[in-house]
Amino acid sequence: MAGKYTLTIIKPDAFGAGKAGRILAHLEQQGFALRAARVMRMSKGQAGEFYVVHRERPFYGELVEFMTSGPCMPMVLERAGAVAALREAIGATDPAEAAEGTVRKLYAESKGRNAIHASDSDENAEREARFFFAETDLLAGA
Ligand code: RTP
Ligand code: MG
Repeated sequence: MAGKYTLTIIKPDAFGAGKAGRILAHLEQQGFALRAARVMRMSKGQAGEFYVVHRERPFYGELVEFMTSGPCMPMVLERAGAVAALREAIGATDPAEAAEGTVRKLYAESKGRNAIHASDSDENAEREARFFFAETDLLAGA
């Protein structure tokens, strides 16, 4: 997977507001190709494990509540330099600080309800893709 793939999630705020299609189209226009996708509602256990790196942070409980508040859409995307390119495309964590034209500037409500997740390293992209997808799902993009 290294280098070519990253994992993204259309978060419950954006998915629930019917923005998933527009966000995917926006990313496809920037050269990302969809390689795996599902729609699911995460359990508290899944969301807690997914964001376990943040378990000591003051916003952890709120983050788990939010990520389990409705359906979300995990996806594997492919592009050269996928991880860095997607972080740039989604913009800063807080939409008030996100650059013009980024997904969070266009579609996010607030720092907590910020529309989209993106992996922050190749190592985490691999871990996160395997968190949501089986080997057979990922073969579609090989
Ligand atoms: P993500 O992991 O979802 O792609 O977001 P990120 O890298 O831009 O930000 P990170 O520091 O990893 O934080 C994970 C998510 O936790 C929520 N958060 N809320 N209220 C707050 O101060 C706060 N800080 C972070 C956001 O949903 C953030 O995306
Ligand atoms: Mg993060």
